[in-house]
Amino acid sequence: MALIEWSSNLSVGVSEMDDQHKKLIKMINDLHEAMKTGKGKEITAKIVADLINYTHTHFSAEEKYMAQFKYPDIDKQKAAHAAFVKKISDIQKSVNAGQLVTMDVMKFLNSWLTEHIIGMDKKYTSFFNGGGLK
Ligand SMILES: [Fe+2]
Ligand SMILES: [Fe+2]
Repeated sequence: MALIEWSSNLSVGVSEMDDQHKKLIKMINDLHEAMKTGKGKEITAKIVADLINYTHTHFSAEEKYMAQFKYPDIDKQKAAHAAFVKKISDIQKSVNAGQLVTMDVMKFLNSWLTEHIIGMDKKYTSFFNGGGLK
């Protein structure tokens, strides 16, 4: 069973952003699967690197639209994104140093993403929709 299941309560009402969130969820699920099945260090490091790259892509896209549609809480979002990038970079450092990904790490990734989408991302819906992005 996947660690995170997509459901409509995670929808931000903007299909491009929903698709990106689904992709992030898939990558976190892949990492969880690799952890559970005892995949090697190289595969794990590759999944973490891909997750970091795609996280950057996603955060850049959100921040671009927030600026474009004059979302008032853009600074809060940027700070939350930066804090997550720092945390995930620390995870990458320990993985590259040979440490295994733990269930605590997986729980952190799961709760950070779902809580961020529900608690923060969903607040930009009306601004993005109002700007014509649905
Ligand atoms: Fe997001
Ligand atoms: Fe966000």
